[in-house]
Amino acid sequence: LNFAEQTGKTCTLAVSGPELDQAVTIGATVPTGFEHTAAEEVQEKLEATARVSKNRGRIYFDITTDKLLKVHQLKSLDNLFVVVKEYDDYQFKTTKEEVQIDWQELAAKLPWTNALAVWKLNNSIKKKKGRRKRTNPTKSDQCGNVGTKSTDTVPSDSEELWEDLEALEVKGTQKDVSSQPENDYEEEKHSEIQDQESGVTPLKFRVTCNRAGDKHCFTSNDAARDFGGAVQEFFQWKADMTKFDVEVLLNIHNNEVVVGIALTVESLHRRNITHFGPTTLRSTLAYGMLRLCKPQVSDVIVDPMCGTGAIPLEGVMEWQNSFFLAGDNNGTAVSRSVNNIKHILKRTHDGGSSSGLPLDVVQWDLCNLPMRSSSVDIIITDMPFGKRMGSKKKNWELYPLCLREMARVCKPGTAKAVLLTQDKKCFLKALSQIEGLWRKLHTVWVNVGGLHAGVFVLKRTAVVFGTTSEDVMEPHTSGKEKLYWKAKEPVLFQ
Ligand SMILES: C[S@@+](CC[C@H](N)C(=O)[O-])C[C@H]1O[C@@H](n2cnc3c(N)ncnc32)[C@H](O)[C@@H]1O
Repeated sequence: LNFAEQTGKTCTLAVSGPELDQAVTIGATVPTGFEHTAAEEVQEKLEATARVSKNRGRIYFDITTDKLLKVHQLKSLDNLFVVVKEYDDYQFKTTKEEVQIDWQELAAKLPWTNALAVWKLNNSIKKKKGRRKRTNPTKSDQCGNVGTKSTDTVPSDSEELWEDLEALEVKGTQKDVSSQPENDYEEEKHSEIQDQESGVTPLKFRVTCNRAGDKHCFTSNDAARDFGGAVQEFFQWKADMTKFDVEVLLNIHNNEVVVGIALTVESLHRRNITHFGPTTLRSTLAYGMLRLCKPQVSDVIVDPMCGTGAIPLEGVMEWQNSFFLAGDNNGTAVSRSVNNIKHILKRTHDGGSSSGLPLDVVQWDLCNLPMRSSSVDIIITDMPFGKRMGSKKKNWELYPLCLREMARVCKPGTAKAVLLTQDKKCFLKALSQIEGLWRKLHTVWVNVGGLHAGVFVLKRTAVVFGTTSEDVMEPHTSGKEKLYWKAKEPVLFQ
């Protein structure tokens, strides 16, 4: 039986809305490494306990549908979907033909009705987010008329799957953009959905399959095509790779299978930044780093290498009772930060708010900050990895200088530093040279655009800067001269 025969409804959108307070399972992709931080936010703001998936970069939690809007407002989550069905231990058959039959049967067996009702409710509350940035049509476009998109990964890379998709999208849009979003597509889509709700045209859909695991006899493309064909037949929907109304997700991780319906058209991390730079950090990742600092009321929080300002902007939107100071030695980066702040201020003023933001931006050299010693509560920054920004060679000189100057401006005994870098070797070496001033608390391993990076959480020791031999340093590249740091000013001796 197809959906109409099972439910007696001719149009799939004629499903009734969910009962108020109906329990549903929401799945969310999050920055890899920040699953537990995201789970903490879910607990704190929704009072729901999230499960961290074996498939890294995902969490699941149960909510009642009246909390759906709040889910969209969480800061740790990238993409959202409502779970149709989860299988913890799906028994895959051993031949391609058998698996194909299973996919075809699965579509008719799944409990779609509630998930579709949540999808429908979600359409009515979803913020209009502007034109979707479309990626190139996938290879499966050419494989037949079923809208499918698929990705296969080997197990070791599986956690990077969604990150990589995100990274691809970001690459296409990392440029300064006009502050005026284009809403035509959303408007058009909205009226189409209204038509469809009245039963005039069939829904358009696509199936996106993400697969990780080496024991499958099929590819993600096979799964998306076969399952997609069955979904099409069951619902009598129309396949469309780009202008789809419903995106059905088929996530396969070894024996774990989750079927879901996407609730976001684009990742929720696209919120603060309108003027991008070459290494703009995702807002969700910035949020995860900020949560590690546990900012307190009236804390002075500094991002001394702010780039486009992703970290301080995210901070100031969530922790308005702290004061943020951002700086960069690159003039273009500083202008981008300023433009991003202006854009947010305009948005908030247009929304009726007259208050400013407790955030300032300065052009400076982190190795010589124009700031008083022992005045900062938190340093949080995304350091040059030495790949797209700076060079590994320069990092050998830069990192020790950074850690020293950060130690100088931070309050002894209480200040924290949360530092992101992929250049782990250089960072750890620099840290070992200054361990009297910084103590490493822990490291969170994250994925930044496909790169394995560490977020190092440090605590400033009680040692007063300028009173130990560690304030004397020998830069790697300079011959015999030694840099001696006295309180604030670096003095060069031959
Ligand atoms: C990885 S990027 C930061 C990206 C930023 N988080 C964003 O979202 O755009 C590192 C930044 O460090 C800056 N930088 C490098 N050396 C610096 C120095 N000595 N003082 C201040 N900023 C520096 C670079 O100009 C670059 O903008």
